[in-house]
Amino acid sequence: MIGRLIALLTLLLAAPASAETVARIASPGGVLSAELQLDPEGRPSYSVQRLGREIIAPSRLGFLLLNAPKLERNFALDSQSTRSFDETWEQPWGERRFVRNHYNELRVRFTERTGLARSLDVVFRVFDDGIGFRYEFPEQPNLANVEIQDELTEFAVADPGTAWWIPAFEWNREEYLYNRTPISAVGTAQTPMTVRTDNGLHIAFHEAALIDYSGMNLASMGHGRFRAALTPGTDGAKVRRQAPFPTPWRTLQVADSAGGLAMSNLILNLNEPNRLGDVSWVRPMKYVGVWWEMHLDRATWASGDRHGATTANVRRHVDFAAANGFDGVLVEGWNVGWDGDWFGNGQEFSFTRPYPDFDLEGLAAYARRRGVQLIGHHETSGFAAHYEDQMEDAFSLYQRLGVHAVKTGYVADAGQAKVRGADGRILYAWHEGQAMNQHHMRVIEAAARHRISVNAHEPTKDTGLRRTYPNIIAREGARGMEYSAWGNPSNPPEHEANLVFTRMLAGPMDYTPGIFGMRTRSPQGVQTTWAKQLALYVIIYSPLQMAADLLENYEANPRPFQFIRDVPVDWSESLVLNGEIGDYVTIARKDRASENWYLGAVTDEEGRVLNASLGFLTPGRRYRAQIYRDGPNADYRANPGDIAIEERIVTSTDTLTLRLAPGGGQAIRLVALGR
Ligand code: NOJ
Ligand code: CA
Repeated sequence: MIGRLIALLTLLLAAPASAETVARIASPGGVLSAELQLDPEGRPSYSVQRLGREIIAPSRLGFLLLNAPKLERNFALDSQSTRSFDETWEQPWGERRFVRNHYNELRVRFTERTGLARSLDVVFRVFDDGIGFRYEFPEQPNLANVEIQDELTEFAVADPGTAWWIPAFEWNREEYLYNRTPISAVGTAQTPMTVRTDNGLHIAFHEAALIDYSGMNLASMGHGRFRAALTPGTDGAKVRRQAPFPTPWRTLQVADSAGGLAMSNLILNLNEPNRLGDVSWVRPMKYVGVWWEMHLDRATWASGDRHGATTANVRRHVDFAAANGFDGVLVEGWNVGWDGDWFGNGQEFSFTRPYPDFDLEGLAAYARRRGVQLIGHHETSGFAAHYEDQMEDAFSLYQRLGVHAVKTGYVADAGQAKVRGADGRILYAWHEGQAMNQHHMRVIEAAARHRISVNAHEPTKDTGLRRTYPNIIAREGARGMEYSAWGNPSNPPEHEANLVFTRMLAGPMDYTPGIFGMRTRSPQGVQTTWAKQLALYVIIYSPLQMAADLLENYEANPRPFQFIRDVPVDWSESLVLNGEIGDYVTIARKDRASENWYLGAVTDEEGRVLNASLGFLTPGRRYRAQIYRDGPNADYRANPGDIAIEERIVTSTDTLTLRLAPGGGQAIRLVALGR
């Protein structure tokens, strides 16, 4: 007994004096709270509680600088203030029309007690379903040029659990399949990274408003502790800025269920309101394109006998779009520069000169007459500087021709994008470093001046900037459908149920669904049923949705194609009815232009039965449910095309039983009838 007491006493004496809580803020409904601590050496940290329980243990804050001593210790609390905010704002387009932005904010100033006496502000916005915090570097004499060597922000997940993540700093940028591992086995992850703790809590880590800064990854320090791993810059500093400036928000979405994460508006809410004014020219749309045939290697981007972007082929696509109610036709390989090794030769691309067998002016006029627009394509092979040299001319040309949307592309291995340094030299850059984030902002602003929306592939990550710049209409930034055309492996059946609860938490994705031709260049082919391909239009949110397959596959299958013709791309509400990360999910969305609802459900490689209550429908109203479900023999391996299409009348009191085949899904259009 005495021995034990002595052991305890020695332990207590040896432990450093503990940190003191200096500030605290709770969310409006008291669900989440955050605390800021200072230890006796003046090191700041924060922690997060949910319903009084710690979910993020004390985690470090601070910076290593390149041109000055680190900003990490010897701080005292200088001042603190709080405020509450509650507004509902309207999205010009989106997964829902009205968004409530309701939080309590804590602003703290830490100032060094001696030496340079520099200050660093930390701002927390605490919502009931998540937290954002950021640093603000105030204007001050002893810290004007900020050269960040490393951000020291940590996230110490308090409980063990499972993580869904893709690796950071690998050559293939953001195009990886999701790992599912214990939290303790994560390496260096990109964000969003989603975890489910063993007691069932779901937390997604990401960032919001990534502007003129470098993208954040999360490096595991062991035992559930993660540290910000900023993307390197083009020289020793990861970020160079002049104070005053804020960092992006570091975000945690927190919910009891996976579906709760997908319902959160945190990332959008932490971005600034629309800066572009009237954006009625930004139009959500469905499109077809000269695209999948190149990925199947039935046609080429390059000129020659197999050139895809010929006048005749594009005309055929315009006619098909007009006949089937699609607004856009994407044309890839229309411009000079694709011949030879285009991956490595970004300098060869002209963004204004079409190949001779593509009549740009004539086709643009033809499309306009038929009520369709061409969607432009600018593959840069990552040579951002070369693109910037031509960007203004390219956007002027498109504006003159009535082209209002451009798909850009940055195919280059990670770290191999090319930007122009201050001295004019070409420097190699990471896709998510500060230089490329500056580049994307220049593209968005130039495009906006010409009333053009941008859909970037191989982009920088989505951090909700579409709120501020609504012409950021979509992006890729994950493994899209193209991998099922040529990848080995193609996207596995669990892929989309992973995406909904990871990548999609960041924002819309141009996934390019709608494939009926399941045999591809990939040895596995497309690993879904047809019904699941239809469900993807509801599950994967994007204001730009492609009907990606060859036109002949639609012409040969008009009945299932009808759902793709009908499904809208702009919604007044979205509800996640059920879901587990990587297993299954059911989402219902209400059309913004009518009283109709659409429902999509997908599963992984396991067949399952899900129940979907239609309680979201208007009570007392009847709806015609047009159901596209897996047929009795459907299976993504043996019989993907077995689809049953039927109708029945339903009301808000019905609960539907959804039978999903292995790798299957279900899509339902709910047409509002009279009462
Ligand atoms: C990769 C993009 O993801 C794909 O959609 C595009 O067709 C090729 N790059 C060529 O630009
Ligand atoms: Ca890609």
